[in-house]
Amino acid sequence: MTDVRTGEQRQGQRKRVFIRTYGCQMNVYDSDRMADVLRPLGYALANTPEQADLVVLNTCHIREHASEKVYSELGRLRDTKLERRARGRDLTIAVAGCVAQAEGQEIVRRQPAVDIVVGPQAYHRLPELLAEVERKSAFRRAGKCLPGAGVLDTDFPAESKFDHLPAPEGVRAGSAFLSIQEGCDKFCTFCVVPYTRGAEYSRGPAAVLAEARHLAAAGAIEITLLGQNVNAYHGEAPTTSIGGSTWSLARLIRALAEIEGVARIRYTTSHPRDMDDELIAVHGEVPQLMPYLHLPVQSGSDRILEAMNRRHGRDLFLRLVDRLRAVRPDLALSSDFIVGFPGESDADFDDTMRLIDEVGFASAFSFKYSRRPGTPGWAMPDQVPESVKAARLAALQALLGSQARDFNASKVGATVPVLFAERGRKPGQIVGKTPWLQSVYAEGKPRLIGGIVAVRLTEGHANSLAGEIAVRPCEAAA
Ligand code: 5AD
Ligand code: SF4
Repeated sequence: MTDVRTGEQRQGQRKRVFIRTYGCQMNVYDSDRMADVLRPLGYALANTPEQADLVVLNTCHIREHASEKVYSELGRLRDTKLERRARGRDLTIAVAGCVAQAEGQEIVRRQPAVDIVVGPQAYHRLPELLAEVERKSAFRRAGKCLPGAGVLDTDFPAESKFDHLPAPEGVRAGSAFLSIQEGCDKFCTFCVVPYTRGAEYSRGPAAVLAEARHLAAAGAIEITLLGQNVNAYHGEAPTTSIGGSTWSLARLIRALAEIEGVARIRYTTSHPRDMDDELIAVHGEVPQLMPYLHLPVQSGSDRILEAMNRRHGRDLFLRLVDRLRAVRPDLALSSDFIVGFPGESDADFDDTMRLIDEVGFASAFSFKYSRRPGTPGWAMPDQVPESVKAARLAALQALLGSQARDFNASKVGATVPVLFAERGRKPGQIVGKTPWLQSVYAEGKPRLIGGIVAVRLTEGHANSLAGEIAVRPCEAAA
């Protein structure tokens, strides 16, 4: 139903914000933090843009189609805004995330209905930016005009935004993300992240552990540590607080495992070059660290890995897999692959297919190379034709798909702990995750959502498994 109350009628009522998140888990985390920043300003969450006074698009710039989707959404929002204004109300439109960082003022030029452009490092400044928009609207309502549409903040500040963001509120169904690292210094030649998220930065362990305790107290039994290059983590602990030193990711994981209530720890996304001995060892030592690792390799060809500036060859990756499996034999591996990087020949692509055969992945993400302005890959010769990229992607996905099916099938008959996250599509069904991050559907009461329950796996499919709750939840929790 459409809300037809006028601006005056709505005064004194709660404002509502709709946040649409594109892209990675870092963006999901950031969207939650934006909601935390906006809550003290009186903004409750809306379920649709139509219900909202403020719409934030938290954008992704990693591949071309990701940014184009943002511009089509902005076109629709402009229409909503114009209809609203005709009815005496307004809609504030904000673009956040990596497209905001990369394109800045260009966004307002392409879509003048946008009020705010805010980069990933400046979310704590949203209240100031909204106040500025309100000032401009007041001038507009009074028939005056302030120069320069849109309010822009895409600076990389010297201080971390983490020092200014409020403590996180939301733990969803027992699961929480915790951002510990941002940015990247690796400069892979296809990737925009070093430009959109800036230089590598790690939060101090004291702040991370405090947030983890807060999340555990709020009901999180699974914590996923996030960072664009999370295993490059090196958090500085001041001498006055907890010993004084640089903490590695391995040390942080050991400390997290000590927090009461934290039953599952995960981390993503890692770079093969930063998988050091200590981190590999932790996979064999900390039972709460789940037996699943997302470790992007991108290609199995040494020539292409070199052109991508990945700083590792196929052998380093294969050796890492062997060492990880030696300490944690049931480790499931996932990865990212790019096909059709400039110069990729049939032989290079075959090397990638052989690497996949050799490793055996439980799941994977795969993409056609997308030429990103400003990256070295943009200007490289021998760009691969779209038709070749498409054929290679289809072959690669067929192989990865059959490996995922085999992996799921290999678990049928086992009874495993499942953390239930939400209701399923069919009535009476609930959906959760195994330790290997597989989705499991089972008949169960919604009150099981947010807890870990033993489930006997009965059927394996391409992207999920079916199961039956094996014991009553009180026994499972014992
Ligand atoms: N083209 C295609 N895929 C890309 N990725 C990053 N940049 C590009 C690009 N320009 C993929 C990589 C990365 C994942 C997050 O997105 O595989 O690991
Ligand atoms: Fe991008 Fe990851 Fe390479 Fe960093 S390591 S440049 S985030 S692909």
